[in-house]
Amino acid sequence: MLYIERAVPADYPVIADIDLEVMESDRLDPHEMGSGGWWWVVKDGGHIVGYAGIEYAGYGEVGFFSRVGLLPVARGQGLHRDFLRVCGAEARRLGWTQMITYVHRLNAPSLNNFIKCGYKTYIPDEDWGCDGAVYLYRDL
Ligand SMILES: CC(C)(COP(=O)(O)OP(=O)(O)OC[C@H]1O[C@@H](n2cnc3c(N)ncnc32)[C@H](O)[C@@H]1OP(=O)(O)O)[C@@H](O)C(=O)NCCC(=O)NCCS
Repeated sequence: MLYIERAVPADYPVIADIDLEVMESDRLDPHEMGSGGWWWVVKDGGHIVGYAGIEYAGYGEVGFFSRVGLLPVARGQGLHRDFLRVCGAEARRLGWTQMITYVHRLNAPSLNNFIKCGYKTYIPDEDWGCDGAVYLYRDL
């Protein structure tokens, strides 16, 4: 059975490993993940099969949806959208009124999920995401 729960520090190295595997970018530093970040994991029989994280965007009452990833075995079950709902609820609890993020323009599953959860695209004054980023926001 799959279930989402708040990550604890012991989960951070596992999240970093899965993130490296599914995102193929720089490895997260597990020692830095607890400072200024909120993380969740999805577990299957006690094993982490996905993760999501948010952090303060650095201005106003705005949060940044920083990372999400699922191992292939956990995809196609709505877990990204479940993460978005859980993270959105926490963001509201933190007093944030808006979430922002970016997704690569060719990442159709991720874009579809954000849009289904009420995110809209916007054009920033200055690019701050990856090359080919689509910028997204959602008022909470
Ligand atoms: C992004 C990610 C978390 C989404 O996983 P998921 O929630 O299981 O998403 P799904 O595979 O169910 O796909 C989401 C939607 O996109 C659709 N979709 C999937 N692949 C697609 C494709 N190649 N083209 C178009 N649509 C596609 C699905 O049908 C689904 O829509 P539906 O629910 O209406 O049927 C997962 O793909 C992943 O971990 N990817 C690697 C890491 C990553 O890209 N993270 C996000 C960085 S912004």
